[in-house]
Amino acid sequence: MYTEKVMDHFTNPRNMGEIENPSGVGTVGNAKCGDIMRMYLDIDDNGVIRDCKFKTFGCGAAVATSSIATELVIGKTVQEALQVTNKAVVDALDGLPKVKVHCSLLAEEAIHAALWDYAEKNNITIEGLSKPKDDVSEEEEEPEY
Ligand code: FES
Repeated sequence: MYTEKVMDHFTNPRNMGEIENPSGVGTVGNAKCGDIMRMYLDIDDNGVIRDCKFKTFGCGAAVATSSIATELVIGKTVQEALQVTNKAVVDALDGLPKVKVHCSLLAEEAIHAALWDYAEKNNITIEGLSKPKDDVSEEEEEPEY
């Protein structure tokens, strides 16, 4: 049911924990399953993500998507990090079961929420970034997965 990559990131999550004094932090939740994900970003003066850590209170797929999402954004610019969509996260994991795709939405939204926090703290606008939602519900799932 789960790919090897999902199992690997679930059993051996990368970058789990928190960053002290982060450049941005974002927390999102899914009211239906009750799972919560928090992403911390450390961004340098050139807008490059130096570090990213996560804390996830959720299912195995949420842990795996958080873990791979941190790997995908580290080293990227803020603009490039916006391209780390839930589809990119699912692809990087070699796929997720359909019923678990909403878990990867949490990762995308948590990154966006952390970027939003960073932008607000620094009084800047990140093109293409909109205000994060408080709740990521399953209705917003992309139907094609
Ligand atoms: Fe809720 Fe996976 S079941 S995030």
